[in-house]
Amino acid sequence: MAKQGFAPVVLPVLAVLIVAAFPAAAEAVQSIGVCYGVNGKNLPPASDVVKFYRSKGINSMRIYFADRNALRALSGSNIGLVMDVGNENLDDFATKPSAAAAWVQQNVKAYPGVSFRYIAVGNEVTGSETDNILPAMKNLRDALSAAGLGGIKVSTAARFDVIANSYPPSNGFFNDDYMRYIAQFLSTTGAPLLVNVYPYFAYSGDSEHISLNYATFQPGTTVTDDGNGLTYTNLFDAMVDSIYAALDDAGTPDVRLVVSESGWPSAGGFGASVGNASTYNQGLIDHVRGGTPRKPGPLETYMFAMFNENKKQGDETEKHFGLFNPNKSPAYNIRFH
Ligand SMILES: *[C@@H]1O[C@H](CO)[C@@H](O)[C@H](O)[C@H]1NC(C)=O
Repeated sequence: MAKQGFAPVVLPVLAVLIVAAFPAAAEAVQSIGVCYGVNGKNLPPASDVVKFYRSKGINSMRIYFADRNALRALSGSNIGLVMDVGNENLDDFATKPSAAAAWVQQNVKAYPGVSFRYIAVGNEVTGSETDNILPAMKNLRDALSAAGLGGIKVSTAARFDVIANSYPPSNGFFNDDYMRYIAQFLSTTGAPLLVNVYPYFAYSGDSEHISLNYATFQPGTTVTDDGNGLTYTNLFDAMVDSIYAALDDAGTPDVRLVVSESGWPSAGGFGASVGNASTYNQGLIDHVRGGTPRKPGPLETYMFAMFNENKKQGDETEKHFGLFNPNKSPAYNIRFH
């Protein structure tokens, strides 16, 4: 099938965290985490949420701001954490090193019991604000180092559409220079690039050219990339490998990739159903420990999201990305292991 449809996909702003973590075979690398967003009524208190993650064997979480309740609940939990710096802080962080330093003291240094993994400077930042990302990352990194927390990696969570020419995957490159400079900074600091990857939006935006099976890890479609001879059996791999191609093109093939969000809505729009969501998300969990054709091996991935959030803005589907309902009943059945 011709699959050129996923380059111009517009990704809605997803304000929740999905980080589902399951112990991988060797238990060294956690492939799956789940994002924990709080834009809903009647969500359980953070202390319950952390217990719930642990009861499901989910060992990694992403949160979208320095949420005091979550940070307190996570202390001593051993759950690896990706924490966002809210987009509203970027301007301050970029222009005032003291703002980054104060934020680090208040939200990172104050929680020695939290297993911080990465701090994401901005989530799906667009427009002129993108100019603030790298200076903010640098100031945050300096602030962490000065606080004796230099082991916590600083990154940013990009939208997939920072990639141009994602088909075939080997043609991918960054469509704006600011991403190249960010990639170079990540290469220097040994931090991964975080990207939100949604085959759902590619599929729902172009279902004439993209088959449902290809989008949901089901058999039936194979695509050979003439650029590198690799064969693709699902859209997720093709999207991820186009990001690796872009990192290569930027001269930073050493930068590791983390999928900071991926998921499928169970209601609210085209292709959004319990059946499709469970097929995609189970496929994702089962798939990412093996990696992609270009980069075999565990791919650290954060599912979006733990709960359905009825106060999320945007398209109706935004409210239905949860693996669980606010009362902790499953939205559909999923095995994390
Ligand atoms: C998945 O979505 C398609 C529409 O794209 C729909 O026709 C199909 O019934 C859905 N499958 C399931 C299992 O819900």
